[in-house]
Order: sequence, then C-alpha cells, then structure tokens
Amino acid sequence: MQVKDTAAIVTGGASGLGAATAAELAGRGAKVFAFDLPDSIGKAPAVDGVQYVEVDVTDEDQVREGVATAAGAGVPLRSVVNCAGIGPSMRILGRKGPHDLGFYAKVVQINLIGSFNVLTLAAEEIARTEPLEHDARGVIVNTASVAGYEGQIGQAAYASSKAGIIGLTLPAARDLAQHGIRVLTIAPGIVETPMLATVSEEFREGLAKGVPFPQRLGRPEEYAQLALSLIDHDYLNGEVVRMDGALRMAPR
Ligand SMILES: NC(=O)c1ccc[n+]([C@@H]2O[C@H](COP(=O)([O-])OP(=O)(O)OC[C@H]3O[C@@H](n4cnc5c(N)ncnc54)[C@H](O)[C@@H]3O)[C@@H](O)[C@H]2O)c1
Repeated sequence: MQVKDTAAIVTGGASGLGAATAAELAGRGAKVFAFDLPDSIGKAPAVDGVQYVEVDVTDEDQVREGVATAAGAGVPLRSVVNCAGIGPSMRILGRKGPHDLGFYAKVVQINLIGSFNVLTLAAEEIARTEPLEHDARGVIVNTASVAGYEGQIGQAAYASSKAGIIGLTLPAARDLAQHGIRVLTIAPGIVETPMLATVSEEFREGLAKGVPFPQRLGRPEEYAQLALSLIDHDYLNGEVVRMDGALRMAPR
C-alpha cells in the first residue's frame, strides 16, 4: 500500500522508534499525526509533514479525538503504527517486597491496552474509507518486543504486555480482514532510543556483544524502514516480525 497522499497515525511519535517512523512516513508523502504525551511533544523537533497531537493512548476519549483529527486531514487514514510504550522493570519478589500490582497494571495498560485502544478506534475510521484495489483499506503495525518471547529477570510486567501484543496480532488481522485492514507486529531486539538513555556506555557495549550479527544495537531508522516495508507489502498480514540481529535474550 502506498502512503503518499494518505493520513497516518504514529503513537509515541515524538521519540525513538515512533519519531523515526513518523519522519519516514512524512518523507514518503503521508500526512502524519504523531500522538504522544505533552512532555515528549515539548521536547520533539518540528518535522515537515508531522503534526503532533496530545493523546494519551490509554484514554478512549483522547484517542477518539486524535483519530478524528487525523480523519479530517482531507486524505484517507490508511496506516497506524503503534509505538507508544514504557519499559520499566521490577522483580516479582524484590528487596522491597512483592511486585507492586498497580505497577504491573500500568505497564499492561499503556503497552497492551493502549495499543488495542488505538487499533480499535483507528480501525473504525479506516473501515469508513473508500477501498483501494482488492478491497484494501489500511494497515496497523504494533510494536511488541523480543521480551514478549524471552522476557528477562525483572520483565514480568513488560514481557506480559508485549506477549499480549503478539497474541493480539492474528485475531486482530482475522477480525479486520472483512474491512480490508491488515494487522502486523514488529518485535524489536535492542534499539538505540531514549528508552536506553539511562544505561551506561559499558552496559550498552555488553548488550551489543550479545547480538550475533550485526553486532551492534539496532537503529530507529531500521525500525522505520521495516514498518514501511510491512505497510508496502500487500500480502503480509497477521504476522510478527522480529528485528533483532538473531538475538535471543538470556535470563539477565
Ligand atoms: N528501544 C528498544 O530497544 C525497544 C525494544 C523493543 C521494543 N521497544 C518498544 O518500542 C516502543 C517504542 O520505544 P522507544 O524505544 O522508541 O521508546 P521512547 O521512550 O523513545 O518512546 C516512547 C514514546 O511513547 C510515549 N508514551 C508513553 N506512554 C504514552 C501514553 N500513555 N500515551 C501516548 N504516548 C505515550 C512516550 O512519551 C515516548 O515519546 C515501545 O513500545 C517499546 O516497548 C523498544
């Protein structure tokens, strides 16, 4: 599916993987609506063709309004890339006691339920658009993580949320098939984004050494390139694609 002269939503679009994807989509002629929280938008650079919209992905009303803004762009909404997420860690039994339940719920709320919220409300709008060739209307790309398969120590909440996205991919593709909407998921390994900003250079080098090939961390532009490839490819649907240099995470 071509993105030129279509509207696109990218959640988490003010930083990291989302920002790179928003810029790539805009570079290819899409009108991009980057949903993010006010703090992140405040720090984001202006990018031609990208309009930032303050949307908390966990809030139904805010997502509905954000989707309506994108739908009013004068070109059909055809693609969504869900990148909003958080990646904190906590052990099930830590020094301070058992895993905080509210913390677990928050991670699942943002990463999994937030993605589902945007997928659902954006799908409603995409389903209203005029179909293209072979009744195609649009594509939704979610972001899981290799932690959804091999979560590490401290990643119970994060891995659960990402495994949920992996499990959502096929039934969402099946549900939305009758509307001509494809659903795909990218499961990145370790990509150099602000999410990794807190770790030391030494730790970063250690992470890179664990990647078989290429022996380095991934780049946000590589995620964006893959997201665009999935959008472009009309026969890809219901699949989760790892982008990890063959990395398989060890327990820690
Ligand atoms: N960087 C990695 O190594 C890596 C690896 C695997 C998966 N991922 C996943 O990729 C996605 C993007 O991560 P990133 O590395 O670009 O992180 P990032 O921190 O650079 O960007 C995440 C963005 O999501 C936004 N966000 C958080 N909660 C939100 C909410 N409730 N509503 C709207 N926006 C919200 C943040 O404000 C931020 O701008 C996340 O889902 C993350 O779990 C990242």
